[in-house]
Amino acid sequence: WFLGMDVGTGGTRAVIVDANGKLVSGASSEHAPFRTPHPGWAEQDPEDWWRAAQEAIRAAIAAAPEPREPIAALGLTGQMHGAVMLDENGAVLRPSLIWCDTRTQPECDWLHQKIGYEKLIELTCNPALPNFTLTKLLWVKTHEPEIFAKIRHIMCPKDYVRYRLTGEFAIDVQEASGTLLLDVTHRRWSREVAEAAGIPMGWLPQVYESPEVCAKISDTAAGLTGLAAGTPVVAGAGDQGAGAVGMGILQPGSVSATIGTSGVVFAATAEPTKDPKGRLHTFCHAVPGVWHVMGVTQSAGLSLQWLRNTFFAGQSYDALSEAAAKIPAGSQGLEWAPYLLGERTPHLDPEVRGAFAGIHSSHTAAHFTRAVLEGVAYSLQDTFTLFAELGIPVSGIRLGGGGARGPLWRRIQAGIYGHAVEILTAEEGGAFGCALMAGVGVNHWANLDQACGQAIEVAQRIEPDPADRAAYEPGYAKWRELYPALRSLR
Ligand code: XUL
Repeated sequence: WFLGMDVGTGGTRAVIVDANGKLVSGASSEHAPFRTPHPGWAEQDPEDWWRAAQEAIRAAIAAAPEPREPIAALGLTGQMHGAVMLDENGAVLRPSLIWCDTRTQPECDWLHQKIGYEKLIELTCNPALPNFTLTKLLWVKTHEPEIFAKIRHIMCPKDYVRYRLTGEFAIDVQEASGTLLLDVTHRRWSREVAEAAGIPMGWLPQVYESPEVCAKISDTAAGLTGLAAGTPVVAGAGDQGAGAVGMGILQPGSVSATIGTSGVVFAATAEPTKDPKGRLHTFCHAVPGVWHVMGVTQSAGLSLQWLRNTFFAGQSYDALSEAAAKIPAGSQGLEWAPYLLGERTPHLDPEVRGAFAGIHSSHTAAHFTRAVLEGVAYSLQDTFTLFAELGIPVSGIRLGGGGARGPLWRRIQAGIYGHAVEILTAEEGGAFGCALMAGVGVNHWANLDQACGQAIEVAQRIEPDPADRAAYEPGYAKWRELYPALRSLR
């Protein structure tokens, strides 16, 4: 059996899979919600992740049916980009600034000035965004120099949990890509960026490919978790990389469109494909020798959740979708711009705000629901448009997250992307993906292709409906006019 663990934002989840890659058991433990001492700040305590990790591992083992097999290897994934800072004794110096903390725009501007926007993209494949780890370290350098002076080790959230499990400082190439300190093209730290930013190379953990074994469970951690001392731990990947592996998005041309709170369109690529305008993230994939790009819609599932909580409290998502399915494709001119939290791809605009447009006296509540489902899919289509502009191939699309669960949102997505979409029999996310990496790490499977080939099944393939296409092609062109209008309203 193999164990995968996802140190998420809301909680930590551990899953166990068997030798066929099928789910045996899973358990989660919640984290304390992140703190926002000032608007735009987001902080969590690494110690809380470690507590949750121990609980989740113990509970997943306890939930596994008898006869139990030993856990042969373990893989880690988690929320990306968070900055964990340790002193010379390995003690946490301050709460972690996590991925959704947006205080660091001044540090992004400083980096672009110091290194140059184009040069930074050349070195790391990405521009500086407030999400990325390096900008958070620079904030501490400016605002808390006494803490910065004590730093001896930096790492991302799941890598801190690995440190507590094994005593090793390690990171994988996919997660490291989101720090802005990795030379993504060559899959190693960028000395040039680290030196320009004033980050000593000695602070950086050793970089591994995702399925590589990089550490072993320590005696202390064995006592706390129920795992055997010496159990191999693979490097794993950030949640997007591991989630993609869990959906079988491994080879160039395969793409996932996942609608959770945010929406992510993720494509595996043969080369590190850079966007000179920095609108996509270009990272190393968890698959050795493969890269990936991804575009992020900030408020995807969140748009629907907001609509329901604000206007349809007490109604189920299924009931809302059933009513919306009776409205024609295109919502008879009603449009939704899903910018409740600004937008990442393609606009990189944290200030823009959402809007309904084209409201007519004939529109009903169900039109509003349908317009939200369509507006979110149009926003994901913006990432596909960028893929086309940059020559990134799309041969197959798999849907994931809550957006893949209901028949209406699946159909809308096929119609708007203009491409067949596949639904998987089970989707267990990033924890599942890194349980498969663990199996590859100890040679149970030869590689991730073989692991996913055995573990993942397609349940359904949905072709775009021609009548939907006829509405969505002009609908998307019209929807694209919303962003410039909203930007001018700011
Ligand atoms: C990826 C990203 C999120 C976080 C939190 O760039 O910001 O997926 O990893 O889950």
